Amino acid sequence: MNIKWNANKYTEDFSFVHQYGNSVAELIDAAKGSSVLDLGCGNGALTKVLRDKGYLVKGMDESKEFLVIAKEKYPDIDFIQGDAADFTLSEPVDVVFSNAVFHWINKDKQRDMLKCVYKALNKDGRFVFEFGGHGNNKKIHSALARVFSEHGYCYRMPFYFPRIGEYAAMMENAGFEVQYAVLFDRPTELKGEDGLKDWINMFVKTPFSIVKTEQEKEMIADKAVEILRDDLFINGKWYADYVRIRMKAVRV
Ligand code: BEZ
Repeated sequence: MNIKWNANKYTEDFSFVHQYGNSVAELIDAAKGSSVLDLGCGNGALTKVLRDKGYLVKGMDESKEFLVIAKEKYPDIDFIQGDAADFTLSEPVDVVFSNAVFHWINKDKQRDMLKCVYKALNKDGRFVFEFGGHGNNKKIHSALARVFSEHGYCYRMPFYFPRIGEYAAMMENAGFEVQYAVLFDRPTELKGEDGLKDWINMFVKTPFSIVKTEQEKEMIADKAVEILRDDLFINGKWYADYVRIRMKAVRV
């Protein structure tokens, strides 16, 4: 991953990420007092939700910027720095939970991540997660790809959005028994008049690294936003075309 996040803006303007995560947390069917790792905990908002449900929580994230916010907001929670595809816990946990993280991990690193999660869980431990599934933000990425091409650049898709069958097979190969899997559309309202441009600026960073000037980056983002206006600006509000993949599995 290794992205330098604008963690304050993320916390202020993209709080829907953890708000939607509440319903993922509800999928955890473990007794109070169970130990839970929040993998890719970001600003810790969902780690706190899990703590308030009575779990013994630990949050892990690679981003120092997010961990500063998490530790400041929830000083009584244990937050540690770690790479989701290369970590070991000192003690295994009963549940690994993750929201809106795995699409940031390259396809060729997913197996490493699943291995780490497997090792981090007790036998019969639960693995509950949601991230971007096949077709996630397809309209947005297609518009960006079109404008990149008009400007003579190749748009490299920076995310991994798997189909359910592909991911369930990967999970089974890693030793998990998948008990629940779903892929669903979740159109998501964005904040403010510039909601879509802000979303692009926050989340789509690496494809823009090949664009020569800041002015051209701005122009490309603006053109993509105009292409998308008819489809994604509805009754005065911007929406992103999110598709989620959600699974619940047991480590056997
Ligand atoms: C997501 O949560 O699906 C997501 C967010 C930002 C960029 C890519 C995917």
